[in-house]
Amino acid sequence: GQPDTRTPTGAETGAPPTAFAQQGAYLTTAQGARLRDTDHSLKAGPRGPILLQDHHFREKITHFDHERIPERVVHARGAGAHGVFTSYGTAANLTRAGFLKKKGKETEVFVRFSTVLGSRGSADTVRDTRGFATKFYTDEGTFDLVGNNMPVFFIQDAIKFPDIIHAAKWHPDREIPQAQSAHDTFWDFVSLHTEAQHHTMWNMSDRGIPRSYRMMEGFGVHTFRLVNDAGETVLVKFHWKPKLGVHSQVWEETQITGGVDPDYHRRDLYDSIEAGAYPEWELGLQVFPDTPEETFAGIDLLDPTKIVPEELAPVQPVGKLVLNRTPTNFHAEVEQVAFHLGNLVPGIDVTNDPLLQGRLFSYLDTQLTRLAGPNFHQIPINRPHAPVNDMLRDGFHQHAVHGGVAPYKPNSLDGGNPFPAGDKENAFVDTPVVVTEAPKVRDLPVTFKDHWTQVRLFWLSMTPIEKEHIIRAYAFELGKCYHQEIRERQLQCLANIDPVLCEQVATALGLPAPQPTIELPEVTPSPALSQVGQQWPAD
Ligand code: HEM
Repeated sequence: GQPDTRTPTGAETGAPPTAFAQQGAYLTTAQGARLRDTDHSLKAGPRGPILLQDHHFREKITHFDHERIPERVVHARGAGAHGVFTSYGTAANLTRAGFLKKKGKETEVFVRFSTVLGSRGSADTVRDTRGFATKFYTDEGTFDLVGNNMPVFFIQDAIKFPDIIHAAKWHPDREIPQAQSAHDTFWDFVSLHTEAQHHTMWNMSDRGIPRSYRMMEGFGVHTFRLVNDAGETVLVKFHWKPKLGVHSQVWEETQITGGVDPDYHRRDLYDSIEAGAYPEWELGLQVFPDTPEETFAGIDLLDPTKIVPEELAPVQPVGKLVLNRTPTNFHAEVEQVAFHLGNLVPGIDVTNDPLLQGRLFSYLDTQLTRLAGPNFHQIPINRPHAPVNDMLRDGFHQHAVHGGVAPYKPNSLDGGNPFPAGDKENAFVDTPVVVTEAPKVRDLPVTFKDHWTQVRLFWLSMTPIEKEHIIRAYAFELGKCYHQEIRERQLQCLANIDPVLCEQVATALGLPAPQPTIELPEVTPSPALSQVGQQWPAD
């Protein structure tokens, strides 16, 4: 079939994205009419009012008045960079995704790092989770890996996402930021919804205050399903390992950098790339058999509050990411980029993780507002680097000029048949996963009910200095809670994780340490969870 005629993208023409923005030697209006003066408005006499007929004045001021777009509802504060992903070819037997299959295959990427809770102008070095979102512009369409620097999430079901964010963002009355500091609502939420305790301890650890974006791990968090050429499937978790290792600031340092240089992390990212010290990560996979139970070593792979220790399932390197180009324009690239877990390529599929399923709905939905309408995939940073032949038409900010008389496929008038016989490629639902005949329920599986074992695993895997930092972080943050019953409820959670931890935090708060209400589980510590003494891939 014949593809539609569309306005060419920068990728097809090789034109730089700035080509449209500034051309010619002279200042013009948006219509290209030449201007001689941009400093003086047209007035009725030197002392008179401004005339409505001053088109240049009105165009300049009107456009300025509309320069801002809404900040992201979460992850508003960020920084981004362009780069290249090179496949090692080691995943060829696991997935038919072309960008992972062929050894040496290079794919352009754009990465956006972010904090979660602060507004656009907030400081970089606050205690928070960090976003690590990667757009792979593959030959088979765009694949987005929208992850964080922590491998677990606060909640198990996306329906609670507005609640945890409302509990952690600014005070509703004063709009004083809360984050994990100064905030009864955050501790109220995580002590009531105890599945949040695991992510909370990652936040209280040194991982919550990274030294640099270049020194963070990244995690896809959810389990994904890979499909190979033979149609065989495995379950996987995605990991980014930074070449420089994982490093943090100490708390006192974050207070100073947050005040003296709130742009500490974005400056570091930009400066290091400009200086040629390109940040690098290795992409790795933990691979699990795709069994009907979707568990590994007794761990439910659909529960996003659980990890699989690397000692049980080593991370297998599949490629390398190098960030080598800073954005030309922050708004056009970092602000307008739109990531979405539904941006999949053949060979990578989603699972039924109830958090992942909710995210599949949320990102596109929010971007329809944030980027003003349904055509934001045509914004240069969001354009695929693969040919596009879709059935989407018209709408606000439509930049493509679609040809043809029959905007539906297949048709017998002008489009031919875009589904040639024998073609199997399909980015969606290409694994025949069984959807059971179970009744509609709101309950989660019982395997999701253990909220304590893995927090204890994390705690017991820390080195003494990391434990000390965690204790101090809990004591400092809970010290900011006004409500005694919330502090006590959180201490009860700590007692159910580890009596030593609970005792030390309770002492710092001047409160008695409660007894555990559960039998403490036996766990085998996972040294890989500590960021001290990690060995990272060599050149
Ligand atoms: C934005 C990660 C859970 C809704 C983001 C971003 C990241 C991220 C990295 C920033 C993207 C960017 O740089 O533009 C995660 C991870 C999650 C998670 C790793 C759990 C594993 C959720 C859930 C929801 C959600 C459960 C809602 C049900 C959003 C929304 C945005 C966002 C609305 C803003 C998107 C935009 O305006 O472009 N998330 N998120 N996230 N996330 Fe999540």
